[in-house]
Amino acid sequence: MKSTAPHGPLLVSLEGLDGSGKTTQIDRIVEFYEQRNPRGVVVTREPGGTEVGERIRHIVLEHASLDPRTELLLLFAARVQHIKAVIAPALALGKTVVCDRYLDATYAYQGYGRGLGAPLIDGLSDLLAIPPPDLTLFFDVPVRVALARRAGRTPDRIEAEGEAFFERVREGYQARARAEPERFVVIPAAGSLADVAQAVDAALAARN
Ligand code: TMP
Repeated sequence: MKSTAPHGPLLVSLEGLDGSGKTTQIDRIVEFYEQRNPRGVVVTREPGGTEVGERIRHIVLEHASLDPRTELLLLFAARVQHIKAVIAPALALGKTVVCDRYLDATYAYQGYGRGLGAPLIDGLSDLLAIPPPDLTLFFDVPVRVALARRAGRTPDRIEAEGEAFFERVREGYQARARAEPERFVVIPAAGSLADVAQAVDAALAARN
């Protein structure tokens, strides 16, 4: 699914801690690709993006107690359905897909946060032939900043985790970004909305 055409099919994922501000920037990112890809842009999210995926999202985010491996398998189940029903058909039509969270979230949250480790996720990903993203925008913020931004919001099951969990998640994202610098763009996202928007513009222009 990799594309070498300048404006061809492209799977773009947005990643970061809860409270990193990535979803706030999504319209800007979509507009950028809409101006470049006449075949259009599909905006979607994980877990979710399909009916079954949204149901799984509800289980993952709201159920009181899940074994970390159950959580992992549910996320992969949602992802397989999402790829089959939404991502692969859109890429086949030459559209750009902008996905609010994708595979790197599983490495960061389940692999690092939950401590399941990367080899299990590597194995599942290979077995299920999950296509890697072409470009990943990682909105990096210190955990304290992310927590402060979320203050006042009712936390879901994952957001209710403590600071140490999110420190591991951040470490996971940073390790992924270091390992694949050609795929990742790290966007420092602790600043104002305007600063982050400027960093997004610069990142998109540099990787276009
Ligand atoms: P969102 O609120 O940014 O859409 O993310 C939903 C939550 O799901 C967020 O806390 C991160 C979590 N998540 C994982 O733990 N693993 C995954 O693979 C994905 C896609 C999301």
